[in-house]
Formats: sequence, structure tokens, C-alpha cells
Amino acid sequence: MPYVYFQTFGCQMNVADSNELCDRLGARGYQPTEDPAFADIIVVNTCSVREHAEQRAQVRIGEYARLKKKEAHLWVIGCMAERLGEVLKKKIPGVTAVIGARSIDQIDTIIDSLLPNQTIESLSVKKIHEASDFVSVMRGCDNYCAYCIVPYVRGHESSIPASILIDTIRKKVETGIREITLLGQNVNSYCDNGVDFPDLINKVADINGLQRIRFTTSHPKDCSEKLIRTMAEEPKCCRHVHLPVQAGSDRVLGLMNRRYTAAQYRERIAMIRQYMPNADITTDILVGFPSETHEEFEETLALVREIRYTTAFMFAYSVREGTAAAGFPDSVPQEEKLARLRTLIDLQTDITKEIYAGMAGEQVELMLGARQEKRRRDWMARDNGCKRALIACDGAESGMILKATVVRVSGMTLICERTAL
Ligand code: 5AD
Ligand code: SF4
Repeated sequence: MPYVYFQTFGCQMNVADSNELCDRLGARGYQPTEDPAFADIIVVNTCSVREHAEQRAQVRIGEYARLKKKEAHLWVIGCMAERLGEVLKKKIPGVTAVIGARSIDQIDTIIDSLLPNQTIESLSVKKIHEASDFVSVMRGCDNYCAYCIVPYVRGHESSIPASILIDTIRKKVETGIREITLLGQNVNSYCDNGVDFPDLINKVADINGLQRIRFTTSHPKDCSEKLIRTMAEEPKCCRHVHLPVQAGSDRVLGLMNRRYTAAQYRERIAMIRQYMPNADITTDILVGFPSETHEEFEETLALVREIRYTTAFMFAYSVREGTAAAGFPDSVPQEEKLARLRTLIDLQTDITKEIYAGMAGEQVELMLGARQEKRRRDWMARDNGCKRALIACDGAESGMILKATVVRVSGMTLICERTAL
């Protein structure tokens, strides 16, 4: 039996693409393995958002090229594959195919050309370890934030027809999936013949057996009241909004081409909290953007203190060739960018811990995720927002939803006990 090994860098969209490829290879008889040295195909799914992510992937690909079986395939897919293309084969000997992010739609044809002698043997019967899965509802991005490479590597926005999505999700639910995360760079631009994203949520919510719906990412400029109202009214929708702010200063937001002011962003947050007072709100923040002054960075800190995100992804600006910001004069030294990042991470970590600590004694509704390998009674779980939890229970399975009490909090994990019914 042939084996495939996956290494996925980057965002959840890459995770979704890797899962998709894994399914397609599964249909051709390939089983996933945890050991790259044992694999017949090694797939490295790459991210180009920051230079560091590309460097890490290249080192890892080099390692796989050395340890792989002589005849094994080594495929590089995703955003860096799109950006650098066939050059990667020359740069890292041993790479046998480069499949860019934009080609993922034609993945079946590509696999057929790369594995010409493989016939489809059986329909993939994927064992469900976790009842949660991702589905990309749109691809590409038309926002052209000044720092971001994504529109160049992933191309223009296009929405996947709702009928295809509903069919895909229904099939997943039949195999045991109970929670779906709908993915797009900007889900609020979703549009399929008049079906917008809130309409899509309503259609997905109608699928019997599906218990939870999550989604990411919303661009603040078009995070609509209709979306938030739909979330609030649909019990299957988790109370979590990921709303990347990037910066707290209007001048920096303008340079970034984000098309909202800090005041408009604050209004969106107020609207979300009005509809869903206990929602978890999370964000992405970028510090050290070219010419960001210390005072402007302080505006970001002030906004973080005020909004109190449950968690945040925080980054130091990294120049991406070909983007608008790559041509901006940058007066912020690298050490200063890293120092700002440390300050921000320290602040946000304190806030995250306080928010978690405040959950002690609360009642939560958990969905079980994966079972712990070592202590088999312990399950990783998630509450109805985005908080992680740990709960011990017997006779359980992934996807089960149960009521629980937070008995204590350990850092960023809620330690829970099942509430007697
Ligand atoms: N440098 C640093 N962070 C970046 N991001 C996007 N481009 C860059 C860059 N050039 C961050 C943004 C975005 C997240 C996915 O990655 O915060 O929201
Ligand atoms: Fe990049 Fe901006 Fe598009 Fe997000 S919205 S993918 S940050 S260009």
C-alpha cells in the first residue's frame, strides 16, 4: 500500500487544501503516514505571507529531499509554489513537482499527470479522528492591502457555488463531521448569484446533523450587520468573530489600504457586542509597518487594551517583493519591529489569561475534538466561542456536544467537568 506524508504551513485554507489532496490521493489508494522517510509521496504545503514562513518551508523541503526514499515524490504546493514556481526544483534538488495555489481546482488532472499509472482503486473511507473540518467557500482576494502577497499568489476573488458547498458539507456530515469552518480571505465578499455569505450560513445551518458552524476571515470594512444578526439568530453559529484590525492608527491603516478608520472598526466591535455580548472576538495585528511611529504603535496598544480580544495573531512586518509596501521608505529598524511585537504579545497574553481566568465557575457548552493520546479519558474540546478546553469523560466520541462547568483554568485552557444532566 502506498503512503503519503503531509507537512502543512500557513493558514487554515492550506489545511483545507491539504485535506482535499489527502482525500483525492486516498481515492487512489494512498494512506496517510506520520513518517516522511516511509512515504511514497511527500507533500509540503507552503505559505508566502511572511519571509520567515518561506525560509522555514525551504529548509524543511531540503530535509525531506535528503531523507525521502529514492523513488518517492516530493511535491511542493500552496502559495510559495505559486510565487516561485519551477525555480523551486532548481533551488532544492529532489523536488519532483511544484503545484501553485491557483491550480488546486485542477488537482485531479494534475495528480493524473504526476501519477499516470495509478488508477482510482476505492472510494476513500477516511477515518474520522475529529468531527471538525474546513471548507473553502471562496478563493483569492481583491483587497490589495499594501503589505500582503495573497492577492498576487492566490489571484482574484471567486466564490464556490452554494449548491456545490452544500453538497460537499452534506457528504462530510454523512461521514461523521459535526462542525464546519467556512473559509475565505474575506468571507463577506461571498456572492453566488445573489446568495451572500449570511444566506450561505442559513443554507448550511439547514443541513441535518451538522451542529456547529464557524467561519473566518471577515474584513472589517464589510463585516455587515446582516452577518452579525444572522450569527446571533442561528444557534448553530459559534459565538466567535475573527476581525483583523492590523493597526490602531488611522494614518497607518490608510497606508495599509485597509479602507476603514480605527473609529469605524470600533463601531463594528460595538455592533458585534450588542448582538452577542459574550462573543469571543479575535484579531490579526501587524506591527512595524514602514514609517509606523512609536506614537502610532501606542495607538495599537490602546486599541488592544480597550477591545480586549480573546486571542490575537501578532506579527512583525515582513517585506514582500511585488507588494505596494515593498516600495515604501521604512524608517523602523528590525530590532524596533521585534521589540514592538514583544510588547504587544506581552500585553495580549495578559489579557487572554485574564479572560480565561474569568471563566472559572462558568457553565460552557463544549464540543469534543480529539482524544488525548496518553490519557485516553481526556478530550480536547472547544466552547461555543473560540476557547480551548480539556474534559475527562468516558463513553464519548468526537463531535459530541456537552454541558460542562469550568472547574479551574490553566493558562489558556479551561479545565472542565461534565455537568450532571
Ligand atoms: N508581514 C507581516 N504580517 C503579514 N500579514 C500579511 N502580510 C504580512 C506581512 N507582509 C499578516 C496580517 C494578516 C495575516 C494573515 O498575516 O496580519 O491578517
Ligand atoms: Fe491579504 Fe488584505 Fe486580502 Fe487579507 S484582505 S488576504 S491581508 S490583501
